[in-house]
Amino acid sequence: MSLNQYKRIVVLTGAGVSAESGINTFRDKNGLWEKYRLEDVATLAGYKKDPTLVHDFYNKRRSDFCSEDIEPNAAHYALAELEKEFNGEFLLVTQNIDDLHEQAGSKNVIHMHGELLKARCPNTNQVITWMNDMDINDLCHCCQYPSNLRPHIVWFGEMPLGLDIIYHHLSQADLFIAIGTSGTVYPAAGFVEEAKSVGAYSIEVNLEGSEIQSHFDKIQLGKATEIVPRLVSALLPTKSLA
Ligand code: OAD
Repeated sequence: MSLNQYKRIVVLTGAGVSAESGINTFRDKNGLWEKYRLEDVATLAGYKKDPTLVHDFYNKRRSDFCSEDIEPNAAHYALAELEKEFNGEFLLVTQNIDDLHEQAGSKNVIHMHGELLKARCPNTNQVITWMNDMDINDLCHCCQYPSNLRPHIVWFGEMPLGLDIIYHHLSQADLFIAIGTSGTVYPAAGFVEEAKSVGAYSIEVNLEGSEIQSHFDKIQLGKATEIVPRLVSALLPTKSLA
């Protein structure tokens, strides 16, 4: 397998790619959805019912992300290298709300479920950088109206971001790689079928087979920090990242 045979790559990442950087996944043992009810903290209805609970949930996660212990890992760096060395079109779609891909050097990244280090005004959709705690008294930068700001996160029932661009790339992809995602949340879980429908070769990298493993041409089980550098090295034969 060499990069020369591919012209358009789409990579989808999920919580598993950041797990070895110290960020909790959602559905593994001790995952976030064992400790919190998704309906309480990741829906608009939950936010309307108890905005302080929701802010507390994301404030804790935001301060974790900003701690010095959380850094990109070998999988993030390998993907940044792949993008740098690849001559064709490359799109990295992540379901993650951390910025570890960007910290590792990835450029063409779509955060389809939003970004935790940003805030959004629901009235104007203006998005601003937000590194600190947020609460219901924070003034919105554009409206100057308290309780109007929210984390720039896509909650369940809301439309993921960047779908037009993502589907455009999927409709032309010849290689699709999914890394560290359980394949339980749509539309991301359907991307492999979309790519396969136009003939793309598909690879899954995960600790264990995902819900959608049967759709992939090749499955590589193991830790993202071990498998992804090996995979990228195979795609970039002149470099050795593994
Ligand atoms: P999940 O927690 O559902 O799945 C993480 C996957 O990563 C699991 O299949 C694990 O086996 C795998 N994994 C864990 N550690 C790994 C490692 N070191 N190397 C490789 N794989 C590993 O997370 P997502 O699939 O990302 O959405 O979840 C999708 C969405 O559901 C999230 O974006 C979030 C969540 O609810 C919203 O909040 C909108």
